[in-house]
Formats: sequence, C-alpha cells, structure tokens
Amino acid sequence: MDAMKAVVYTRYGSPDVLRVTDVAAPTPRDNEVLVKVRAVSLNASDWETLLGKPLYSRIGGPFRPRHHVLGSDIAGQVEATGVNATRFRPGDDVFADILSQMGGFAEYVCVPERALAPMPTGMTYEVAAALPQAAAIAQQGIRDKGLVQSGQSVLINGAGGGSGMYAIQLAKLLGAEVTGVDNEEKLEFMRSLGADHVLDYAREDFTRTGSTYDLILDLAGYRSAFAYQRSLRPGGRYLFVGGSMATLLQLLLIGPMTGRAARKKVRVLAVRLGVQHLAPMIELCQEQRIVTVIDRRYPLNEVPDALRYLGEGHAKGKVVVIVD
Ligand SMILES: NC(=O)c1ccc[n+]([C@@H]2O[C@H](COP(=O)([O-])OP(=O)(O)OC[C@H]3O[C@@H](n4cnc5c(N)ncnc54)[C@H](OP(=O)(O)O)[C@@H]3O)[C@@H](O)[C@H]2O)c1
Repeated sequence: MDAMKAVVYTRYGSPDVLRVTDVAAPTPRDNEVLVKVRAVSLNASDWETLLGKPLYSRIGGPFRPRHHVLGSDIAGQVEATGVNATRFRPGDDVFADILSQMGGFAEYVCVPERALAPMPTGMTYEVAAALPQAAAIAQQGIRDKGLVQSGQSVLINGAGGGSGMYAIQLAKLLGAEVTGVDNEEKLEFMRSLGADHVLDYAREDFTRTGSTYDLILDLAGYRSAFAYQRSLRPGGRYLFVGGSMATLLQLLLIGPMTGRAARKKVRVLAVRLGVQHLAPMIELCQEQRIVTVIDRRYPLNEVPDALRYLGEGHAKGKVVVIVD
C-alpha cells in the first residue's frame, strides 16, 4: 500500500481550506501500530484546530497548523505492527484518542501502541469512535473531579454537544438535578437526555438568573471568574473545560483565589485523555445505562461538510465519519 486518502490542510481557516487528496500511506515505527480507520468522530477540538481559534488551539503551530490531518477519536482494525509493538495483531479491533498527534481523517493512521486499547466487546466502530474525548470529559468533569452526589444541583454549559451528551446522562445517573445550557436548536435534545431544566444561552445568561449550583461544568466558558463564583453554592465547584483564551487565562491566574471564603472552587479542568482511563463510562455504555447519540454520519470525502455542520452549531450529540 503506497497511497491513501486523507483530508489535509496547511493553513488555518474555514472548512474550505480542507482538501480530500491522496497522500503517502504511513509506515509504523518500532513502537507504533498501523490502524485502518473505520470510524472517526468529530470534536470541538477539530473545529478549533481547523480555525486556529481560540489561541490555545495553535499550541505547537502559531502560524501554520502543526499537524496537517485532523481527527483524533478513532476506531478501526490493526493493519500492521512495528517490531516492538507486540500487544496487538493484524485484524484486532482497537480504538484511541490521538489528540496530541491527530491524523484520524484518513484511511490509515500510525498510533503509538500505548495509546490503543482493544475495542470493548460488542461495541460498534462508530460508538467506539464517539467515546474517547467526550466520555473522558464527562467522566472527569462530572464524577472524578466534579464529585457529583445525589441530590446536588448541576449546570452543564454547552450541554447539547458531544461531551454534554455524556455529561447530562452521567449526572442524572448519579442522582443530580441537571440544568443544560446550549443553543435553541438543542433544548429538546438536552431534555431527551434527562436534563431537568434547559436554558438557551442566546436568551439567558445563567450567571445572572440568581440560581446557584453545586457544580458548573463549562464546555463553553466565556465569562469572568467572578460571574462563575456568584453562581456557585457554598462549597460548590466550577470546572472550565473549553471556551475563550481570555477566560482560561483569568481562571488560571485568579481562579484559585476566587470564592475561597465560601469554600468555592473555580478551576480549569485539565482532562486526562486516553481510552485506558474510560472503564467506568464504557461499562455504563455496555449496560445501556448511557447511550451514544450519533446525530449524523458522513463519508471521509465529506469531512469538510461534517466539520461545518459541527462548527455552525447544529450537531446534537456526536457526528461520526465512517471510513470505507
Ligand atoms: N480542558 C481539557 O483538557 C480539554 C480536553 C479536550 C477538549 N477540550 C475542550 O472541550 C470543549 C468542549 O468539547 P465538545 O467536544 O463537547 O464540544 P461540542 O460538541 O462542540 O459542544 C460544545 C457545545 O457548546 C455550545 N456553545 C457554544 N457557545 C456557547 C455558549 N456561549 N454558551 C453555551 N453553550 C455554548 C455549542 O453550541 P453552538 O454550536 O451553538 O456553538 C456546543 O453545543 C472544547 O472547547 C474542547 O477544546 C478541553
């Protein structure tokens, strides 16, 4: 195999800068596995790294993209292995989050062996591709760091997208009363996942309603640390996952000092990525206590349309690219 199809870009911009083209097929290094990609899901991080906005998406490539093929949450089949990659054999079904290297919008990608895990029994490629980043954010934001307990009040900002879809369901399973915030198009979707209350962010600013929460999980943070701490109950926590660079910097600088008197925690959540940490979410999925909603499926040559659909704010749950 000499060539393969991939979706390539060499400068930041709209989906118009993407080209579906033939490139040289990769060869695995000693510790790598060559994976034939069967499905790859889209994340907001793909959209942000395409645009080069917010600025944190340009880490490693301030003027031009560091990686020329986006796509980080992959599921597929082992095609070949490097000499030191001994855990997998050709034909094995595997999945991974390869955010640090990207390259999933292609027919094949080389993945360090340590980033791969066997696909959970009975799981489809599309669900395995939907899980990695979104489920890691939900698991850590709601459970591991959010420490949600039964009876608590939880607000998830940006709850109609990929991570929000899992986060709403997990918070409900833990017995919380959940408020989901997103655009108008996604209100019904958030309700269908179990949200008790929904807010349209274009009409209502949740930091000004007077309501307070034990946990705010923020997937789209654009306000100040003071606004967030105002919306927390005593002992409550605010966790920033994504949003603007200005908010991120402010939270890093003054977040730890904000709301201390009332034992409030206002923090940035650095998500530990990697499918090997996802066992609790995978179990819940396999028991069908958490469902994966795939809003749309696209073929590889329609990745630009898929990213446009996500970036324009229409995606409810996950968007998955199926690679034939
Ligand atoms: N902290 C970490 O370690 C870490 C790791 C991985 C990823 N991330 C970040 O996690 C974030 C969320 O990822 P995701 O995949 O869940 O994104 P997603 O699927 O795009 O969902 C985000 C949702 O937020 C909504 N939204 C946009 N602006 C909003 C606002 N002002 N108020 C409320 N909701 C708003 C979006 O709707 P619209 O469509 O209307 O815009 C969308 O439904 C990304 O920013 C990503 O970079 C962080």
